[in-house]
Formats: sequence, C-alpha cells, structure tokens
Amino acid sequence: MQARIAQMMTTSTASGKIILFGEHAVVYGRPAIAVPVAQVRATATVTDAPPGSGCTIVAQDIGEETRLAAAAATHPLALVLRLALEEAGIGAEPDWRFVLTSDIPIASGLGSGAAISAALVRALLTHAGQPAPAETVSRLVYRSEELFHGTPSGIDNAVIAYERPVWFVKGQPPESFAVGQPFTLAIADSGIPSPTKESVGDVRRAWEADPAGYEAIFSRIADVVHGARRAIRDGNLAAIGALMNTNQQRLEELGVSSPALEKLIDAARAAGAKGAKLSGGGRGGNLIALVDEESAEAVQTALVNAGAKRVILTQVGTAGIG
Ligand code: PMV
Repeated sequence: MQARIAQMMTTSTASGKIILFGEHAVVYGRPAIAVPVAQVRATATVTDAPPGSGCTIVAQDIGEETRLAAAAATHPLALVLRLALEEAGIGAEPDWRFVLTSDIPIASGLGSGAAISAALVRALLTHAGQPAPAETVSRLVYRSEELFHGTPSGIDNAVIAYERPVWFVKGQPPESFAVGQPFTLAIADSGIPSPTKESVGDVRRAWEADPAGYEAIFSRIADVVHGARRAIRDGNLAAIGALMNTNQQRLEELGVSSPALEKLIDAARAAGAKGAKLSGGGRGGNLIALVDEESAEAVQTALVNAGAKRVILTQVGTAGIG
C-alpha cells in the first residue's frame, strides 16, 4: 500500500505600486503620495519539500534557484526569508520550496522588488500558520529594500504592504488620504530599465555637492505634494494635472528625467492628458499621465506610438484600490 503524503501549499500575492508625487524628495524627509497598482502582481507559492532539503527559493521568471543555506547574506530574497523565519520563531530551517513569479516589470518604478519580498513574507508567515499584518510585512520588506536601493525612504514597502493609497513621510506610519473624486492614470513603461539605486545615488552625490540648492528643490517638491493632497481631496482634476507637471519640472531640475521620458510625457500631454510626470527613480522606468474618459484612449495610443512598451490604466479612489 502506498502512503499518501498530503502536500501543503500556500499562495500569497502582492500588488505593484506607483508614486504619484514626491519621489526622491521623500528620501530627504519630505512627504510623498503613492498608490497600489493591483493589475500587476507578484506571487509566492510555498510547498512542503522532501525532508532534509531545507529552504529553496525559485525565481521562476529568471530561472534562478537558490538554496537558503548556500545564499550570501547580501541576497535580498534570502535576507527577507531569513528575517521572516526569525519573525515566525522558526529556528531550524524547514523543508519549504518557495516559487516566485511576477508580472511587474523589473527596475521600472512599479515596486517589483518590494512586491516579490512582500509576497514571500506573506506566504511564509501564512504557511507557518501565523498572521501576516501589514506592519510586519512592511518592516521586513524594508530590510530587503535596503539591499535593492541603498537608502530607501520606505515608501515602496509601505504602499505594497498596506495595499492602499498612502501619504508617506520617512520614519512615520503611512497615513490614508481622502479622494474627493476617483481619477484615472495611464501608466506607461518607457522600456528603459533604470535601477533606482543609481538615480538615488546620483541625487545624493549632487546634494552633497550643493546641499542648499538641493534642499530648496526638495522643499518646493514638498509644496507640490501638499497641494496635491488638497487637490485630490477636493476632486480637482485640473489642479492635480497641473501639479504633476510642476513636479516633473522639479524632477528635471534634480537631474533624474531623460529625453526618452520627456518625449513620452510630451506625447501624453499633446493627446489630452491633464498632466504627466515620470514616476519613481526616473531616467527610464514608468511615467504617469492623468486622463479622463474622453482622453484615455487617445493618450494610450499616443504613448504607444511614441515608444511606450506597455500602458496600464489604473483608477485611484475606487473600491479595490482605495
Ligand atoms: O523607483 P521606485 O518607484 O522604486 O521608487 C523610488 C522612489 C525614490 O523616492 C526615488 C526612492 C525612495 O526610496 O523613496
């Protein structure tokens, strides 16, 4: 007679995210606004593995398999797995196989690294029969973000762990904010990978060379972000769009924009977007454009014609996102 081995399996997911206002300045203590993007997700599936096999992380999309026992301390996913095991109070390495997949483009400002880590933490804690509260997920993912980013503000892990729009100030718990009228964003991928670590490092070096000049730009960005919170609360779409354009100008002053992004931004505005800006680290990655029912299709088409690799429409302020 053959013994049937019941295989335990747990699957958890985490959404992508996009920063609406305040990237880069948020690293220097100014506020930023970010929302989850539920259409793109990372997934972690844990299954029980044969005894003695220990923990294995399979990054399916890139065909990489890593045994936890052999992983370097600087491996971001191994780090987050070790931290989550510690959080769960699991001393001896269990025999668990983690398979990770994601449809969030890498190095494009959609939070792919934080989302994979968040899915992994949720799956591990759930597989261990424990709750996975947002605060815990956010705290553990932040540690892996330090390896991905260098000096992260913590906004990515916060918005992804809480999976709701957040008003974020470094070192403080994320706040919710009021959305007077739902609005739609077109998120366009420039197709140019741009590691956040590099643009954040460049801004840091420029800030070190000219602290007063850069602090002044960060403070002007903070004014934009405060204005945006009011415009979003009041449902004033024209003001939200104008503030996106102003934020883009400030990001150009910081040196994190690029001709390719500006070409796409111009195309979106010319096709009827009320405002457009880069989002996240910059240089490449994604940009966002504020659209309405009339302009959505024309803006999407214009972005694709101008070279965008993919355009996602997402709503801010409706159930499921808000
Ligand atoms: O490139 P993204 O979307 O992961 O975001 C980076 C946001 C920055 O403000 C540039 C850096 C940070 O840690 O907040």
